[in-house]
Amino acid sequence: MRSLIPLLLFSTALAFATPAPSNLITNLAGRTRLNLDGNWNAIVDPYEIGLGSRFYENRKPKDKSDLVEYAFDAAGTLRVPGDWNTQRDTLLFYEGAVWYQRYFSYHKRGQIRTFLHFGAANYLARVYLNGEKLGEHEGGFTPFIFEVTSRVLEGQNSLVVEVSDVRRPDAVPAMSTDWWNYGGLTRSVDLLEAPETFVQDYFLQLAKGTSDQLAGWVQLNGVREPQTVSVEIPEIGLKKSVSTDANGRAELRFPAKLTLWSPEDPKLYRVVISSGADTVEDQLGFRTIETRGTQIILNGKPVFLRGISLHEEAPFRGGRIVSEEENRTLLEWAKELGCNFVRLAHYPYNEEMVRLADRIGLLIWEEVPVYWDIAWLNAATLENAEAQLRDIITRDHDRASIVLWSLSNETPPGPARTEFLRTMAEFARNLDPSRLLTSAMNHTRPAGTNTRSLDDPLGEYLDVLGLNEYVGWYEHRPEEADAIRWTSPYQKPLIMSEFGAGAVYGKHGDAGTRFTEEYQSNLFEHQISMLRQIPSLAGMSPWLLMDFRSPRRPLAGIQDFHNRKGLISDRGERKQAFYVLQKFYGELAKSGSH
Ligand code: GCU
Repeated sequence: MRSLIPLLLFSTALAFATPAPSNLITNLAGRTRLNLDGNWNAIVDPYEIGLGSRFYENRKPKDKSDLVEYAFDAAGTLRVPGDWNTQRDTLLFYEGAVWYQRYFSYHKRGQIRTFLHFGAANYLARVYLNGEKLGEHEGGFTPFIFEVTSRVLEGQNSLVVEVSDVRRPDAVPAMSTDWWNYGGLTRSVDLLEAPETFVQDYFLQLAKGTSDQLAGWVQLNGVREPQTVSVEIPEIGLKKSVSTDANGRAELRFPAKLTLWSPEDPKLYRVVISSGADTVEDQLGFRTIETRGTQIILNGKPVFLRGISLHEEAPFRGGRIVSEEENRTLLEWAKELGCNFVRLAHYPYNEEMVRLADRIGLLIWEEVPVYWDIAWLNAATLENAEAQLRDIITRDHDRASIVLWSLSNETPPGPARTEFLRTMAEFARNLDPSRLLTSAMNHTRPAGTNTRSLDDPLGEYLDVLGLNEYVGWYEHRPEEADAIRWTSPYQKPLIMSEFGAGAVYGKHGDAGTRFTEEYQSNLFEHQISMLRQIPSLAGMSPWLLMDFRSPRRPLAGIQDFHNRKGLISDRGERKQAFYVLQKFYGELAKSGSH
C-alpha cells in the first residue's frame, strides 16, 4: 500500500502538468527575418552575480565616481551560434552562467509584428530586451520565441541573454549524461517580422491509411474574424482554399496524386500557404508510416531500418554543430555506410539537419533527453519533458524524414517512471497521431537457454521497441553473442537501438585487446551474426557514427574525455568496424529481404 501513495500523489499532480499549446512560429526559412548571429559580448558569471547586479540593464557609469562592476563592451566575445566550451580553453569544463549581449538597430513599420526567435540555448535562458525581461526558457535543444512588437525600439536596441548550463536533479536531462554539457546560445538567434495576421504553423501530411488524400491544418495568428487560407502545390496544379474558424484554425482534407517520399526517392514538393498579407513556402515530402505486427511499413511496404546512432557533435573540431556543412558531413557519412535511417540520439538536433535528411533521403528517429534517471515524481519535470516534446513536434511535424518520436533512453523501470512516460506517450499521440512512438530500453530478463527477453512495461505504450544491449563490451565476450537469442513479449517491431565497442583509430592488436580496431570490428561481426537470428528485428542503429566528447570517459591516451565507440574517429578517420557494417548493409540493401 505504501508504495502506491507516491504514485497516487504523482498522478494527481500530473493532471495539472500539461504545458500550454506551442507559441512557436514554424518554418523560419520561409519568413522575413533579421539574423542576429555573430560575435556577442559575453561575461562569464560562475557565481551568477549578474542577476543581483542587473547585468541585463547594460548600465554605463554616470560619471567617473559611479561604481559599475561589469561592462559588456570590455568583456570579450563569444560566437553565436556556438557552445562556449570549445571557444575558449578556459571554458572547456566550465559549467555555470554566461551573460551574452549585443546591440541591433531596427526600423519599425506600422502593421508589422516582431518576434525574437532562438534555435536553442543550453540549458536555461533568461532573455532581456532594453533592460526589460521578456521571459525564460528551460531545455537545451528546442526553439523558443518572444513577441517584442511593443518593446523593440526604433533605432538601437540592447539584447541581453543569460544562459546557464548548471545541471539539476529535477531537470531534463538531469545530473548524469554520457555527452558533454555544451553550454550557450548553441543555435541561431533571429528577429522575425510578420503582418498583423500571419500563418503561424501548419501540418500537411497524407491522411492516415491513405496515399492519395492530404489532410492537416493551418493555424493563423492575429485573427479577428474568419479568414480564407489557400494551400497550393504548383507542381501538381493543386490549389485549395479553406476558411478558418473563430480560433484562426483551418482544417484541410483534399485528394492529391503525389510521388511518395522515400530514402531511395526523397521527393519534395514546393507548398505555398497564404492568407491575407502573409505567404510562406515550404518543401514537403509525403509518405505513409505504420506498423504491421513486427514490421515497419513505409509507403505500404516492409522496410528494414539500416541505421546508425549519432550525437550532434561537430566533426573535426568538436563542439555542438553550428553549420550546414557539419550537418552534411555526418549525414553523408551515414549514407556512405549504407544507411537509410539515423537515430538522432539523445536530444533534438538543429532544424537544418532534419531538413537535410528530408532532401537526401534518411529516415529519422528523433528523441527528447529523458535520459537515465529523471525526477519521475516531480510534476514540473514532466511538464518540462512534455514542453520539449511539444516544441520539437511543432518544429518538425512537417518533415517526411521523421518517422519515430522517442520518449526516452535507458530509463530504469519503476511505477513512477512508467506512469511519467505513459503520460508523455499520450501527450505525443495527441500532438502527432501520424508518427510512431518509441523509446530506447535496456531492461531484459533471462527467458530460457541463451535467450533474453525485453522486460519493460513501457513497451505496452510504444509502437516500436528500441533495445540497447552491449553484449561483448559491458558483458560477455564478443564471441558469445552468436549463441544469444532475443525475444519480446510484444508483437511489435524491434529496433536494436544501441550496441558497440570502443576503439582508438590506428590502435591495433588482437581481437581480445580492448580499444583496438580489431576488438571493435570483431564485436561487430559477432553482433551481426546475433542480429541475423532475430525474426522480429525491424532495424538497428549501432552506437555510433563518430567519437564524441564525454565527461565520463577520462582514460588518458585512449579516451581523453571522448567516448570512442564511433565507427569514425572525431578526426574523420574510418575504423575497420565501419567497413564491417558497410558490408552488411550493402548485402541487406541488395537482398531487399529487409
Ligand atoms: C548507453 C547510452 C549512451 C552511451 C552508451 C555508452 O547505452 O545510451 O548514451 O554513450 O551506452 O556507454 O557508450
